[in-house]
Amino acid sequence: MHINVVGSGYIGTTIAAWFAEIGHDVTNVDIDESVVAAINDGRAPIHEPGLDELMAAHGGETLVGTTDYDEISGDVTFLALPTPSKGDGSIDLSAMEAAAESLGEAIAGDGEHVVVVKSTVVPGTTRERVAPIVAEAADMTVGEDLHVAMNPEFLREGYALEDFKNPDKIVVGSEDSVAFETLADVYDPLMAAAADETAYVETGLREAEMIKYANNAFLATKISLINEIGNICKEYGVDAYEVADAIALDHRISEQFLRSGLGWGGSCFPKDVAAIRAAARERGYEPELLDATVAVNDKQPERLLGLLDEHRDVAGERVAVLGLSFKPGTDDIRYTRAIPVIEGLQSRGAEVVAYDPVAVENMRAEFPDIAYADGAAAALEGAHAALVVTDWDEFAALDSEFDAMADPVVIDGRRVVERREGITYDGLTW
Ligand code: UDX
Repeated sequence: MHINVVGSGYIGTTIAAWFAEIGHDVTNVDIDESVVAAINDGRAPIHEPGLDELMAAHGGETLVGTTDYDEISGDVTFLALPTPSKGDGSIDLSAMEAAAESLGEAIAGDGEHVVVVKSTVVPGTTRERVAPIVAEAADMTVGEDLHVAMNPEFLREGYALEDFKNPDKIVVGSEDSVAFETLADVYDPLMAAAADETAYVETGLREAEMIKYANNAFLATKISLINEIGNICKEYGVDAYEVADAIALDHRISEQFLRSGLGWGGSCFPKDVAAIRAAARERGYEPELLDATVAVNDKQPERLLGLLDEHRDVAGERVAVLGLSFKPGTDDIRYTRAIPVIEGLQSRGAEVVAYDPVAVENMRAEFPDIAYADGAAAALEGAHAALVVTDWDEFAALDSEFDAMADPVVIDGRRVVERREGITYDGLTW
C-alpha cells in the first residue's frame, strides 16, 4: 500500500519508519526542511533505539520525506501532529487544523481518501474539527468520498519501535466501513507478525479518542496512588517497595507502574491528564480524582526537598542533582521532575551542579545558570548533598564516588542508590 504520514515528530517518524519496514511505500510530510533532509538521507530525526537502522534501510527509498503536501499520493493519510497544552490545559489544535487544510487542498480532485487522526485529541475532535476542514478544502463529503478514522498510539519513548511492533492493542475508531477496511489492510502485516495477545479493537470515533486519554489518565493515577501509599508508608517506616511487590501479585493490580518515587513527567501524561480534565470541566463535570492525581504528583518534588531540609540547610552549598530527563533512556526533559527540584534548590540559595548521561544540553537551555558536570563522580565531588531525580542504571552502580562529597547526604527520589555505611541516606518512600 501507499501510506502518507503528516508530521515527523516522535509518533510520525516512528510509524512512518515502521510502515516502510512492514512493506508499505510511505510519504512523510513535515514543514521542517532539516527533518525532511534527514529522512531522505536515511538518518533518524529523533533519538530512539533501532530507528537509525530502519531509517538507513528505507529513508530516501520506500520512505520519502517532503515538505510538499502535493507529493501525497495513494488514498490513506495519517495525521501525526503535536496537540500541545494551552495555558488552561486544553489542547491546541492549530497544527492539526493547519495540516488538515493543507491535506484537503492536496487531495482535492484525487478521488476517495481515508484520513486517520493519530494524534491525541479530545472526544469529538476528529468528526467535528478535523474532518470538516479536510472536507471543505478538498470539496469532498465525509462518509462518501472522504473516510475518517481515529487510531491512537500507545508507544512509550525509548521503546517506540518495540511497542509499535508488538502492541497490547491496536485501536481503530470510525463510523465508516471503508476506513475500517483500509486500516485493517494497513495493519494486516503487523497483526500477522505481532504476538498472539495483540488485540485489534474496532470502535467508534469518540471511543477511540477517549481510550487514549483513559489509558494515560489511568496509568498516571496508578503512579500517583502508589506514591500516596508510599508517602503513608514513609510515615510508618514501612518499605513501600515490599508492599508494592506483594499487592502486584493480585492480577487485578499487576506489577506495572507500581514504582513509587518522584512521580510522572514526559510528553504525554501531564499534557493528556490536563486535557481530559479541561475537557471534563468544559462539559460541567469536576474531575476530582484526576485533580488529585496531579496534586499528588506536584507534591513529590516538594517532599524530596523537604527531606533535604531535614538533613541540611543548603544555602550557599553545592548540591548535586543526578538525572535530568523525565525517565531513563531519553534526553526528553518535558515536565521532568528535575525542573521543580532545581527551582526548589535555587530558592534555597544552593549552588546546583547537575548531571545526566544524555539530557544536559536540553536542560542547559532551561537552566543556563546552574553548573553541569560531565559525570556523576564530578557532580558529587565536594557536594554537601545529592538528590537523585532519574532512575538511570548508572546511578545504581555509584559507590566510592560518594566518598568525594563534602558531606555524603543522599536523598533518593527513585530508590536507585544502594544504602551503605558512610552515607547519610534518605529516600522518598523509605
Ligand atoms: C507514556 C505511556 O506509557 C504511553 O503509553 C503513552 O503513549 C505516552 O505516555 P512515556 O511518557 O514514554 O509513555 O513514559 P512511561 O515509560 O510510561 O513513564 C511515564 C512516567 O511515569 C515517567 O516519568 C516515569 O518515571 C514515571 N513512572 C513510571 C513512575 O514514576 N513509576 C512507575 O512505576 C512507572
